[in-house]
Amino acid sequence: MTATPGQALSALLLTLLLGLTGGQPSISLVGPTRRTTPENSVPFNCTAGPFSSSDFNVTWMKDRDEHPASAQRLVTDNKGNYSVTSKVWVTLSRQDILSVMTCEVTHRALAEPLRRSMNLSRVLQVVPTLKITTKPSAMQIRVHQRVNLTCHVSHFHPPHLHLTWMENRHKVQTVESPQVTRNPDGTYSLQHTWQAEATLDGREFACWVVQDEQPPVQANITLRAQASRLGKGMSSYSSALQGPFQRSEPGTNIQLTFTSSGFSTGQVTVTWLKNSHQLLKSQTSVRPRGDTYNVTSGVVILLQADDVHSLVHCQVKHMSILVSQKTIRLEQYLRGKDVLFVQMA
Ligand SMILES: *[C@@H]1O[C@H](CO)[C@@H](O)[C@H](O)[C@H]1NC(C)=O
Ligand SMILES: *[C@@H]1O[C@H](CO)[C@@H](O)[C@H](O)[C@H]1NC(C)=O
Ligand SMILES: *[C@@H]1O[C@H](CO)[C@@H](O)[C@H](O)[C@H]1NC(C)=O
Ligand SMILES: *[C@@H]1O[C@H](CO)[C@@H](O)[C@H](O)[C@H]1NC(C)=O
Ligand SMILES: *[C@@H]1O[C@H](CO)[C@@H](O)[C@H](O)[C@H]1NC(C)=O
Ligand SMILES: *[C@@H]1O[C@H](CO)[C@@H](O)[C@H](O)[C@H]1NC(C)=O
Ligand SMILES: *[C@@H]1O[C@H](CO)[C@@H](O)[C@H](O)[C@H]1NC(C)=O
Repeated sequence: MTATPGQALSALLLTLLLGLTGGQPSISLVGPTRRTTPENSVPFNCTAGPFSSSDFNVTWMKDRDEHPASAQRLVTDNKGNYSVTSKVWVTLSRQDILSVMTCEVTHRALAEPLRRSMNLSRVLQVVPTLKITTKPSAMQIRVHQRVNLTCHVSHFHPPHLHLTWMENRHKVQTVESPQVTRNPDGTYSLQHTWQAEATLDGREFACWVVQDEQPPVQANITLRAQASRLGKGMSSYSSALQGPFQRSEPGTNIQLTFTSSGFSTGQVTVTWLKNSHQLLKSQTSVRPRGDTYNVTSGVVILLQADDVHSLVHCQVKHMSILVSQKTIRLEQYLRGKDVLFVQMA
């Protein structure tokens, strides 16, 4: 049987190990050279020697439980002493962060067993789960508001990682070693906050996390300001445009009033136009009501005989965006022959 390069190398390592220890039996425990994620199996080697006889026992323990070895290999040195290499495979799980592998070798020449332990946290890699939350919550984000985006990086191991914030696919910040907190299960978690301004068209933010040579993990969120509720449907929004209940003769002043509620900010402007070009002088008031705003706007119009065909437009803008436009026909407030004629027709 010819030795494979691996066997030749381990025999060399063994010789070095035994040479250094000068005849006194010693033990070494070697684990995988790279960290591995849960569900994968990793090998451990335990090498002990030299012993004058081969009647030794090698026992592997995972915490308090015995763990079966996969293979055992005896090497005899040129002085007739024995050394043993025992190998186990361990299928890693997340819970193993707190586990310890122990190799124990007993021999009649030893007063005390030889023992070597390794924490499985040294060989485990637990990939975090990521989530981005916003404060205030997405439904309440207004234009130009500063929003705290928090990247929650949960349950990872080892504690060192890099975190990068991206905005519309461009890097905006990299944190080399963000501060972590330890969880009872031995994993680590962290939170990192990035402040951004909300816009109506929306911006995409992503949080990337890189652990060692692992593929990055990312979470993303689109930060979009909620248009005022006016623009978003009529659920909690109400508005009305009212004039007098009775008709009046030409030459009478009438009052038209627009009322509305449910605006997310107080930046509301109301513009009144007669026949699309004549700006009417109006009075508008915006009042907070809970966390929304009520708007009341009024104009006084001098009715004229030829107003039968006149239209009045009431335009409402919230943060410069047209959210409502109402039109009213002055004919309905006019008393006169023309009106009667129109109505009878
Ligand atoms: C473990 O020992 C076996 C047999 O001696 C060897 O082939 C293998 O390379 C060793 N592995 C490690 C991780 O040392
Ligand atoms: C063989 O091992 C024993 C210890 O078990 C040691 O005392 C002795 O020196 C070893 N023999 C040689 C030649 O190294
Ligand atoms: C090794 O194990 C066998 C069987 O369990 C036992 O009879 C023997 O005494 C053990 N030897 C040592 C040195 O512990
Ligand atoms: C294993 O972990 C424990 C606690 O986490 C620590 O005290 C101990 O030094 C570690 N042992 C080794 C061999 O790394
Ligand atoms: C955003 O974070 C800053 C600093 O961490 C804090 O002062 C502020 O209150 C936070 N804003 C919100 C809306 O949570
Ligand atoms: C955002 O994250 C989702 C999964 O959470 C992913 O499917 C999507 O590709 C990501 N978008 C970008 C632009 O990275
Ligand atoms: C605001 O509007 C709502 C509904 O239109 C109304 O019930 C309420 O009385 C108004 N509040 C104020 C302060 O104007």
